[in-house]
Amino acid sequence: MCGIVGYIGPRNCVPIILEGLKRLEYRGYDSAGIAIVNNGRITIEKRAGKVIDLVNKIGSNNGKFAATLGMGHTRWATHGEPNDVNAHPHFDLDKEISIIHNGIIENYQAIKTKLLREGHTFVSATDTEVLAHLIGEMYKKTGSLSAAVRYALAEIEGTYGLVVLSTHEPDKIVAARKGSPLILGIGDGENFVASDASAIIEHTRQVVYLEDGEVAEITTSGFRTMTIDDVATQKVIQEVTFELSQIERGGYDHFMLKEIHEQPETIRNAMRGRLMVEEGDVKLGGLSHVMDKLVNARRIIITACGTSWHAGLVGEYMLEQIAKIPTEVEYASEFRYRNPIVGEGDVLFLISQSGETADTLAALREAKGKGATVLGIVNVVGSSIARESDGGVYVHAGPEIGVASTKAFTSQLTVLALITLMLARAKGMSKADGQVLARELDTLPSKVARILEDTTSVRALAREFKNTKNFLYLGRGSNFPVALEGALKLKEISYIHAEGYPAAEMKHGPIALIDENMPVVVVVPRDGIYDKVVSNIQEVRARRGRIVAVANEDDNDIDSMAEFVIRVPRTYGFFGPILNIIPLQLLSYYIAVERGTNVDQPRNLAKSVTVE
Ligand code: M6R
Repeated sequence: MCGIVGYIGPRNCVPIILEGLKRLEYRGYDSAGIAIVNNGRITIEKRAGKVIDLVNKIGSNNGKFAATLGMGHTRWATHGEPNDVNAHPHFDLDKEISIIHNGIIENYQAIKTKLLREGHTFVSATDTEVLAHLIGEMYKKTGSLSAAVRYALAEIEGTYGLVVLSTHEPDKIVAARKGSPLILGIGDGENFVASDASAIIEHTRQVVYLEDGEVAEITTSGFRTMTIDDVATQKVIQEVTFELSQIERGGYDHFMLKEIHEQPETIRNAMRGRLMVEEGDVKLGGLSHVMDKLVNARRIIITACGTSWHAGLVGEYMLEQIAKIPTEVEYASEFRYRNPIVGEGDVLFLISQSGETADTLAALREAKGKGATVLGIVNVVGSSIARESDGGVYVHAGPEIGVASTKAFTSQLTVLALITLMLARAKGMSKADGQVLARELDTLPSKVARILEDTTSVRALAREFKNTKNFLYLGRGSNFPVALEGALKLKEISYIHAEGYPAAEMKHGPIALIDENMPVVVVVPRDGIYDKVVSNIQEVRARRGRIVAVANEDDNDIDSMAEFVIRVPRTYGFFGPILNIIPLQLLSYYIAVERGTNVDQPRNLAKSVTVE
């Protein structure tokens, strides 16, 4: 959600922080701000809008805005509308302390009421300003910035990734985390703090991941970490491995388009060193120690949100049909609050691109607390879900910057296919059958590349439908989640209303929507239920709906039934979603471009949803 970057060292922090904020903008971006400490005072510049608006505002400050200690923030509004006043950083009452914050202070109203009674006044509608004032009060009692932060945090309920600066102690940054990611960047005679490594990898690759409940004091020469109760903690410095080029657009108009086109490579990366084609088997190091639990699992539960939940729905088909393990899929946000009956014998897979989604992390903790084995299928290395899981598999899609998830989805599906094949073999699938699946998986990157070679027909479709108000997406079996995901992609970036439905469910309600203006995108590969989906197509045609079919290259019957056909190569049934989603990603992308929306940073959305 919000982005955080802080710097302490010999250089002017302002360009470092502004550049970091630009790289963090994809996380959440209705306003941005920066605070610097210089000559015994804190100066704040902040502005609703994009980071560039902040840059322009500071640019007009005649170069006087400079310091060697500072912090910046991109905000995704929770409390209070996105305007200049509610933007972070916020001051305490005396303007001696300033904070930036990602998360939600749930009991801020009670604290605010108490502080108001004590004479405080507030300028913003945010929970963060209340926390700033509380830290200010605690400073008066303790005379130490880190103690003030710890004492204040002991009083609050909620989540935070927090950075605090003060004129009282202008030689340090204090940071704390609970529920929102925060890393320290360790430089040479300078140090950083950020919510995401992408903000600082230009300067250092050495990072320290803060854990929930940890507070850090960062100076130019080093750092120390402690719990809220002031017990020192030991940290390991780790190396970030991704390259700067991976978080740049590389000649593409948008990150989303770049990420769509990266999929042959990212799918290959998800399989690299894991898929053993000749053995017809799979090796996943992060699961080897829990193989017994997996093979003997009473059931597998997959929990996730959004696109990752759609991947889980496809995984359910794979795991039940191929590996023969009973599997359930549930939204993490529902799972966490329904007091689920889980325990030993259950295995939970948590799927998450960011590894920081608050609901998914909470589901993990709920299940782990009840004795289940929890395993992550995660993209971001070192993220909270990856670290708190009992084991898991990284999808290795590389940084995904576009808010609409694309390459992470196909990599999640690929990893689910690998897990399925590994478990199927462990549960008795023959080597010969394993080889058939492994060989097919091995062909997927080149098949995806084939789909991406020529996008003319999808672009033509986008022009045809750019002004359409509603779309229906239909699919059956493992392609029902593809319909859901296609509809989600369109909604997210073009703001066109779209619904995904199991094709056969259409006649139980949505069919009422169909008329000559309604495009119906049908995923209809030549599989065992082809004829059934064709019947659903006929039901749409009988009501003059406009059929857009995603069909196999060698399907010669479909042209007579569909107004538009997008071709994809054939593959083994349960791997089909990995191919079938590609044209739907492209369709939503090109429609959004035609409509002139902000493809990479769609309104109201954030890349990583770290609040409930
Ligand atoms: O990082 P996660 O995979 O846990 O994120 C889950 C959802 O927030 C995410 O998939 C969201 O739906 C995307 N915007 C989809 O494009």
